[in-house]
Amino acid sequence: MGKIVKALLFIIVLAFIVIQFFRPDKVVDIHPEELAVNHVFEVPENVMSTFKNSCYDCHSDEIKYPWYWNVQPARWILHDHIVEGRRELNFSAIGSYPLYRQYKKLREIREEIEEGKMPVKGYTVMHSGTSLSDDQKKEIFAWADQARAAMEAKYPADSLIRKK
Ligand code: HEC
Repeated sequence: MGKIVKALLFIIVLAFIVIQFFRPDKVVDIHPEELAVNHVFEVPENVMSTFKNSCYDCHSDEIKYPWYWNVQPARWILHDHIVEGRRELNFSAIGSYPLYRQYKKLREIREEIEEGKMPVKGYTVMHSGTSLSDDQKKEIFAWADQARAAMEAKYPADSLIRKK
């Protein structure tokens, strides 16, 4: 092995060891149960179990951390997904959103799945059984449409639009 290759390998191994010491913490922000999606909306059991199985690891307070959470740089990637995912949509806190935002998230859930953006590709590769079947998608779409219709029936139209 040439000297340069050896030096590079050494640097890579050293860097790998050093980054193990930079460890973001787990999410500990837990919301009251009443704010969860199945308390705010009527969610059929099959839809709820799809959400728990395919979305909750990034979009809830109930995150199941895989073993590679303990290995850098995987932990950073997971941590980013969780922080960003929960900022966009936290199924455990949807009841704390203003009505217009809940209404919008119902539409976005449908759109993100239709466009194949959710669940995140790398996640479905690492976690088998988390990509959605056509039936699961249909069930979610039907639920989201029905939940939006229920909001339209219950609240005045201008409460479902963001105030300027
Ligand atoms: C591996 C983590 C991960 C999983 C699993 C995941 N998401 Fe996401 N989701 C994210 C991240 C990160 C973002 C924010 C960045 C983006 O939009 O790509 C996001 C954004 C979203 C948004 C907001 C998009 C917007 O337009 O603002 C919705 C809605 C969403 N996800 C729904 C879902 C649903 C429904 C599932 C399950 C079927 C799911 N996600 C599974 C990580 C995830």
